[in-house]
Amino acid sequence: MLVHAITSNVTYEFASDVHAGLTRPGQKELPSKYLYDDVGSALFEVISRLPEYGLTRADERLLRRHASEIVDRLAAPVAVVELGSGSGKKTRWVLEALCRRQRTFYYPIEISRSALAMCERELRDIDAISIVGFEREYLDGLLEVAAHRKADQHLFVLFLGSTIGNFDRAAGVKFLVEVRRILEPGDSLLLGTDLEKPSTQLLAAYDDGLGVTAAFNLNLLARINRDLDADFDLEQFAHVARINHEARSIEMHLRSRRRQTVSIPAAELDVEFLEGETIWTESSHKYSTEEIFQMARNAGFSCQAQWIDDEWSFAENLLTAE
Ligand code: TRP
Repeated sequence: MLVHAITSNVTYEFASDVHAGLTRPGQKELPSKYLYDDVGSALFEVISRLPEYGLTRADERLLRRHASEIVDRLAAPVAVVELGSGSGKKTRWVLEALCRRQRTFYYPIEISRSALAMCERELRDIDAISIVGFEREYLDGLLEVAAHRKADQHLFVLFLGSTIGNFDRAAGVKFLVEVRRILEPGDSLLLGTDLEKPSTQLLAAYDDGLGVTAAFNLNLLARINRDLDADFDLEQFAHVARINHEARSIEMHLRSRRRQTVSIPAAELDVEFLEGETIWTESSHKYSTEEIFQMARNAGFSCQAQWIDDEWSFAENLLTAE
């Protein structure tokens, strides 16, 4: 696989994002994209196999069951772009269905280089596939693929795993608008969305008994120690998952177990934490099936079809650019 990488300034950007997030007045925060370094990506792979976290398996089941139906609804020929491919495992079914009808270019866009490598190892055995990976942020990568599209070629964008839910509702629509702006009428977007579910189920999914999700969240502090030379004492922070009923989301925080000061030399920062104070690291919004149609319309798409898993409340939505 060819990988187009940008590595310059990565540490500088990380340091300045950490500085901005931890000096914010009020709620301290860290951008969730930094959860996915090599260790974080590996831990997320484990999360996706936990009995409590049914999201990834639901996503995969739907793609496996409905791959030909999904592919049959696309205008041909298409190139596939995936925003955040992860290991690439659940993308196999759609790619195989497409490769049965045409030679298929697949462009995974990932900020984790190790996830990109895993993805290519996972999928390279598919007949008639060409994989070109981009180590980029989603929209930068999509722009680059779109700039090189052939005249008669449609783009089929995959945005799976309910990553859309990590934006708040307004920002989610704004993101879809930005994707739509890069696309042409007739291009498609397959959007995975986790649906609303009972609080107990949700809390277990984001705070599992084994503590893998806790490790995944705490790894963000470990990463700041590794990359920015900081001295976070991981034992003095606790993973917290908390439901926000108003936002219809679950929030992940890291709570300081005591009053403490942490030094982050590469961000030129000493941060004070009060006992019980939290750093907000991620929110995962949950949707109703109807609101997805409205979101799609608001962003210049129409939702052509929706498939819902029968074991875990999750929907795959096929959107067409108007
Ligand atoms: N984006 C995934 C989700 O919202 C990632 C995730 C799972 C996650 N568990 C987490 C992010 C715990 C932060 C903390 O479901």
